[in-house]
Amino acid sequence: MKITFYGHASLGIQIKDIYILVDPFITGNEKASGIDINTLKADYILVTHAHQDHILDVEVIAKRTGAVIVSNYEIVTYFQNKDLEGHPMNHGGSWDFEFGNLKYVNAIHTSSFPDGSYGGQPGGFIIEGEHKTIYIAGDTALTMDMKLIPMQTELDLAILPIGDNFTMGIDDAILASDFIACDKILGYHFDTFGYIEINHDEAKRKFFDKGKDLMLLEIGESMEL
Ligand code: NI
Ligand code: MN
Repeated sequence: MKITFYGHASLGIQIKDIYILVDPFITGNEKASGIDINTLKADYILVTHAHQDHILDVEVIAKRTGAVIVSNYEIVTYFQNKDLEGHPMNHGGSWDFEFGNLKYVNAIHTSSFPDGSYGGQPGGFIIEGEHKTIYIAGDTALTMDMKLIPMQTELDLAILPIGDNFTMGIDDAILASDFIACDKILGYHFDTFGYIEINHDEAKRKFFDKGKDLMLLEIGESMEL
C-alpha cells in the first residue's frame, strides 16, 4: 500500500493497481500548487464529509476519471445527481471493493455542503487491503467510539487530524492513538490555514515522549506501508 499526501486532508492511496483519492482539496490549497489534479489517477474517491475543504475537487476529478465516489448516502446522492458514479454507505457499514474491505466509521464533526445543504453525518474510513489496515479518521474530535476499532481490527497506520480548532489537536490525537491501539500516526489537516498551523517539532516530540511515531509528509511525498 502506497500513501501520498496531497496537502490538507487530501490523500492518494494505491493498493495493487487500484488508485484511491481521499477528500481532494487541492486547487483551493495554495500550499498544494505543485500538484496538478489533471494528472491524478482515481478509480475511487472517498469523501469523509461535505465541507468545501474535502470535496472541492471531487467533481472535476470524478468527471475526468469516471471514479466511483464512496461516502455517506447524502454525499453520494449529491454527486449521483450530477451524473457521477457513486457507492453510498453509512456508519458501521463495510463493503468488499476490488481494492479490499472498506468500513465507514463515526466521526464527531459537522457535514454541510458549501451552500449550506445537508451533507449527512461525517465519518472516517478503515481500509483493509494488501494485508495492511489503515484508519483515516476524517475531521473529528477525540471520541470514545475510536475504542471500538481495535476490538475488531489491528491497525498498521492511522491518519489523524492534528491541526486543532476544527478537529483534534496534538494532545487529543495522542489519546486517540491510545484509543485505537496504533502508535504509528500520519498527521493531516494542519498548516493549511492560520487556524490550524502547528509547530512540527513540538508535535513530533510530544508523540515521541509517549513512545509513538508522528509522521508528517511534505505535500506530494509518499510512504510505503
Ligand atoms: Ni470539516
Ligand atoms: Mn476540514
